[in-house]
Amino acid sequence: AGTGWFQVQRLFADRLHRQHWCCTDCFTVRWTRVCVDWECLHLDIRFSGVCLRVPRFRTTSFFCAAIELYLCILPKPPIVDIAIAISWTVTVSIGAEIIGKNIFDNLTTTVCDKIYETLIEHKVIFFRDHPLSSEQHIALAEKFGPLETHAYVQGLDDHPEIVRIVKGEEEKNQWGENWHSDVSYNTKPTKAVILKSIKIPPVGGDTCFSNMELAWETLDEKIKDKIKDKKAVHTSLGAEFFIDDYKYMQGNKKRNYDEYENEHPIVRTHPETGKKILFVNWTYTKKIIGLEKKESDEILEKIFEHQARLDLTCRFRWTENAVAIWDNRSVQHYAISDFFPGRGLGYERIMDRIAIEGDRPN
Ligand code: SIN
Repeated sequence: AGTGWFQVQRLFADRLHRQHWCCTDCFTVRWTRVCVDWECLHLDIRFSGVCLRVPRFRTTSFFCAAIELYLCILPKPPIVDIAIAISWTVTVSIGAEIIGKNIFDNLTTTVCDKIYETLIEHKVIFFRDHPLSSEQHIALAEKFGPLETHAYVQGLDDHPEIVRIVKGEEEKNQWGENWHSDVSYNTKPTKAVILKSIKIPPVGGDTCFSNMELAWETLDEKIKDKIKDKKAVHTSLGAEFFIDDYKYMQGNKKRNYDEYENEHPIVRTHPETGKKILFVNWTYTKKIIGLEKKESDEILEKIFEHQARLDLTCRFRWTENAVAIWDNRSVQHYAISDFFPGRGLGYERIMDRIAIEGDRPN
């Protein structure tokens, strides 16, 4: 039973469109109690002690429209409370979109806790139409832990915590364009990332996310046995990978540009949920320690193919002023570079990224 405004509307939309009938839903919106018996096809609306029963309502689209309209005109509770209470999933496997206005205007502990809970549960969360200033972006990120500096890429002059990801109109490549978990080559890979869209092409430039807890659960048992206690080498690939191939990305002048590597358990445990996570990725993981190169390559190839299975993923179509927050420990992502030559997709794409420091995987 939901009590929220958007949840009610969403419930109706979901049930009506997905034809998911075998249950009863009850919820209260302000003074009105609504009970929907989807199986027996009736809907009760109780208001001030009066019960209005609408029989066989779902067969009549007029009733559905009328109910949605009725729910729409009811007075709305304070927007922040309801916005944070309400989220819905993007796919069964991963992702939730949180609906509401001005969510980041008042970052109380309650609001931040709810955002964080939703993040941990759904692994990546999305917000649309939130024109965050850089200061608000930083303030939000700081609620989740100390901020991280990128080893190779320089932040904005006035806000060094923010890395501006720019794909120029004429560029064919896009930063982050294969499956990866951010900076998995560091001793302490990123905990979470908050990405905000500034300029989005009219077509293309979506980002995909894949659930690595589910990837572990669904992995072939023989592969699981082979890798469960092993570590793998993650390699940073050097500055070229992050800057030189991207005209508008600026190098972090204070930093060492050499390539470096770290070893991490292939199966890490989420520090908060205790769930197992498949922690290798196509971009940075180069070798399973303790196996011959050939066997390591073969197993990694199978794992990478498995991690990219569409049923583990969701895909986010960006709009300007959208925000995505992902748990970088349990999620991989892929910024789709569908700006192919000759397809007329010569658009600019600009994103601001803030990363939150993680801990050592174990
Ligand atoms: C990244 O890989 O961190 C960037 C993702 C994106 O730009 O969509």
